[in-house]
Amino acid sequence: MMSSPPLTAVVTGGSSGIGFALTQKLLSEGYHVFATSRSGDIPGIAHPALTVIPLDITDSSMVQAAVAAIAASGRGIDLLVNNAGAAPDVYDLEPKPDTFTQTFATNVTGLVFFTETLLPHLHQGAQIVMMSSAMGLIKNAGINGPAYRMSKAAVNMYAVMLAKRLSEKQIRVTPMHPGWVKTKLGGMNASLTPRESAEVIYAGIRNNSATGQFWNTDINGVEMF
Ligand SMILES: NC(=O)c1ccc[n+]([C@@H]2O[C@H](COP(=O)([O-])OP(=O)(O)OC[C@H]3O[C@@H](n4cnc5c(N)ncnc54)[C@H](OP(=O)(O)O)[C@@H]3O)[C@@H](O)[C@H]2O)c1
Repeated sequence: MMSSPPLTAVVTGGSSGIGFALTQKLLSEGYHVFATSRSGDIPGIAHPALTVIPLDITDSSMVQAAVAAIAASGRGIDLLVNNAGAAPDVYDLEPKPDTFTQTFATNVTGLVFFTETLLPHLHQGAQIVMMSSAMGLIKNAGINGPAYRMSKAAVNMYAVMLAKRLSEKQIRVTPMHPGWVKTKLGGMNASLTPRESAEVIYAGIRNNSATGQFWNTDINGVEMF
């Protein structure tokens, strides 16, 4: 009997926090993982099925080079996890030009054009997970983190639009809340460790058959926008 080739995943922001833990989880589940990192290195994971790709997602030439390196491997992509994100204004009440620009360049423009550039290399039936946040749901609007909340609301809209566009290819697109997680971004008072979050994210990847719907790992199910 012929064995099927390993599934292939791409995880952006694999250098720390949720992306680091999810990279470890996917490797343990038998995936070949292309994990991106701004430094081009991910200290702490050495695995024969891991390929580290240098990527600052705000740099369009690095986006092109990262996708070219993935494409050159000859592997089609089964799972894209758009995890890289920034939240420099999460404790601010008023939008400021510098943090607003950084947040949108990373969470929105970078995510959108990395995804669009990688799309031709996704298999029919692949999945795209956009690491969003419950903070980006309109019904959860608060007064802190203006750029961060707006950027995640934009990610949710892009995910729904892309889900419609890719439905004929049976590519599912899921904006996902990963829980409140102890990371540089989430802070140390958060409730989940990155490893616990990676487990519930992976369960969401396996269990969610919907597309274009917001998946909240806190309830292990779909939540209305
Ligand atoms: N932690 C939470 O409670 C929580 C809740 C809801 C949603 N999220 C989302 O989950 C995702 C992961 O966050 P995290 O909590 O794991 O935070 P984190 O530990 O700060 O990790 C953020 C990751 O994004 C990468 N990154 C930042 N700017 C980048 C850029 N310009 N180009 C490429 N990579 C970049 C970082 O790379 P470097 O190592 O190079 O900085 C790092 O790998 C984010 O999208 C975040 O919004 C987190």
